[in-house]
Amino acid sequence: MDRSMFTSTSTNVQFPPSTSAEAWWRGAIIYECHLPSFRDGNGDGIGDLEGLIASLDYLHDTLGVDAVWTGPFYRSPLLDQGFDVSDYTEVEPTFGTLETFDRLLREAHARGIRIIVDYIPNHTSDQHPWFVESRSARTNPKRDWYVWRDPRDGGPPNNWTSEAGGSVWEWDAGTGQFYLHSHLKEQPDLNWRNPEVREALFDVLRFWLDRGVDGIRIDVAHMLMKDPKFRDNPEAPSGNHNPFDLQHPDFGSQVHLHDRRHPDTHHALAQIRAVIDEYPGTVTIAEIEAMSWEDWAEYYGTDLAGMHLPFPFRLLETHWSADLLRAELHGMYAALPPGAWPIVALGNHDRARLATRLGTAQARVAAVLLLTLAATPCLLYGDELGLTDRPVPVDRQRDYFARATGGVSRDPVRTPMPWNDDVNGGFSAAPEERLWLPAASDAAEISVAAQLSRPDSMLSLYRQLTRTRHESPALRRGEIVFLPDVAADSDAHRVLAYERRAGDDHKVILLNLASEPVPVRLDFAGTLVVSSVGREPGGRIGRELDLAADEAVVIDIEKG
Ligand code: GLC
Ligand code: CA
Repeated sequence: MDRSMFTSTSTNVQFPPSTSAEAWWRGAIIYECHLPSFRDGNGDGIGDLEGLIASLDYLHDTLGVDAVWTGPFYRSPLLDQGFDVSDYTEVEPTFGTLETFDRLLREAHARGIRIIVDYIPNHTSDQHPWFVESRSARTNPKRDWYVWRDPRDGGPPNNWTSEAGGSVWEWDAGTGQFYLHSHLKEQPDLNWRNPEVREALFDVLRFWLDRGVDGIRIDVAHMLMKDPKFRDNPEAPSGNHNPFDLQHPDFGSQVHLHDRRHPDTHHALAQIRAVIDEYPGTVTIAEIEAMSWEDWAEYYGTDLAGMHLPFPFRLLETHWSADLLRAELHGMYAALPPGAWPIVALGNHDRARLATRLGTAQARVAAVLLLTLAATPCLLYGDELGLTDRPVPVDRQRDYFARATGGVSRDPVRTPMPWNDDVNGGFSAAPEERLWLPAASDAAEISVAAQLSRPDSMLSLYRQLTRTRHESPALRRGEIVFLPDVAADSDAHRVLAYERRAGDDHKVILLNLASEPVPVRLDFAGTLVVSSVGREPGGRIGRELDLAADEAVVIDIEKG
C-alpha cells in the first residue's frame, strides 16, 4: 500500500476529557422497551409489566444492558401507545397494577438493572379528569390548566399544524372555544404557564421517584412552552418535510417557530431537574427534536442544571455516510458543555427501524458505532435482533396518528418481539388476531432463541459489543479522538474512525460504511476484539488493514 495516500492522524481535537466523578448512567447501556409489543405475561395478547419482569434475565445476563426505559404504562385509552395519559399515578390495567410495577422495580434492582420511566408533561388524554373538568365550563377552576383560545375570524386561533395532521386547535362546542393539542385531538396540551399545573406535574414526578425509579425520559421536552402571543408559524413554501420522521405531511408545511421551544422552556426543565435532584442518583433524559448543536447543548442548562441527557436527534437524521456522521459527531462533541456527557440512540419508536433504513449489513456497523461512542448508548428493543419494519394491515393498526387522512402509522416499527419458536414467536399465547400487533411470520427464525444459537447473528454481535464495552474502561468512559485520515482522501466518505482511551486501555474503532472493501492505515498495531463480518477475534492487526465490505472493527491497541 502506498503510504503517501495517508496523512498524519495526530492533529485531532479531543473530547470529552475523562472525568472521575462518575454517575451510573455515564457507564450504562440503556434499553428502550415498548411494553405492548415486548412480552405478554397474562395471555391477553398485549405485552405488559409481568412480561417485562420475565425478560429481565434476558436483558441483563444475555444482552448486557444496565437500565430499561419502560415506555408508558399509565392509565390510558392507548390511542398513542400510552402517551395519552388519563391518570398519571395509576397503572393501565392492560399493563398490570401498581403492585406489578413495584415488583418490577424490586426484581430489576435485585439484578442491578435501573428503571427509567416516561414522564409525559406536555399533554394528557382528553379522558383525564383534569381535562374533563377544564372543558366542563369556562368558569371551572381547571379551565386554565389547558390552553383555551377564542376563534380568529371564525376559525382556529392560529395556523399551527399538528404532528398528527391538521390544525392543533379543536373546537369545543360546549364552551365555545378552541383547545390546543400538539398531537392527537384526544391529547390536549397542558398549560405550563399556570403554576398549579407545574406543581401538579412535579407531584407526579415525586410519586414515581418515591417508589424508587432511577430516572425519567421526558416526552417532547422541547414543547412545554409555546409563544405566549400564539403568533402564526411561518409557512414553508417548498415544504419542510423531515424524511427521517414518521410525521403527517401537514406538519412539514410550516416552520415550527412559535409552537415549541420558547426560551422559557429551559426554566421549566430546570424546575423539573430540581425535583429530580431531590432524589440523588436519578437521571433526566429529554426527548427533544433535532436542532442545531448549539441549541441542543442549551438543554444541559446553565451550570448543567438542566437535563442530564438530551437526545441528539440530529444523529438519527444524518444520512449514512462517514463524512456526514463525522461532521455531526464533531459538532456534537464540540458543543457539549464542559463536564457534560451525551446519550446516543440510532433507533427509536417513532422512526423506521435501523435495519430497514440501513439494511442488515450496515445495521451491524451501526451497532458497533452505537456501542463504542463516548456516549451512553440507548438501544431500541428488537434492534438487537435486526428487526425490520413489518407491514401492519389497516384493520390491525393501533397508532391513531395514522387515522388522519394522509397520516403515517408507526406500528410497523413496533411489532412484537420474537422470543422463540413457540406460537407467535413466544410473544403471547393468545390467538394471533388478538395480539396487540401482528407477529412476524418468520418470528421463529429471527427470535432471540434462534439467534443465540448462531455466532454470526445480530444478537451475538450485540452481546459481544455489550461485553466488550463493559470490560473496557476506554469504551465506557474514555475520551474519543477522531482519526479522519486512516483512509485515502477518496475513501474518507466511506470510513469513520476513532480511538477511545482511558489509562492503559486503548481501542481503535474503524467503520466501513460502504459495501466494498477499503484499505486503511493505522499508527498502531493491535489485536482484533470485534468484527461485524465475523473475522475471528484475537487475531493480530498490523498497521495496514483491508476493511471488508460493510465491516466495522474494534481493535485493542498494544501499550507502548
Ligand atoms: C413523543 C413520543 C411519540 C408520541 C409523542 C406524543 O414524540 O416519542 O411516540 O406520539 O411524543 O406524546
Ligand atoms: Ca398482557
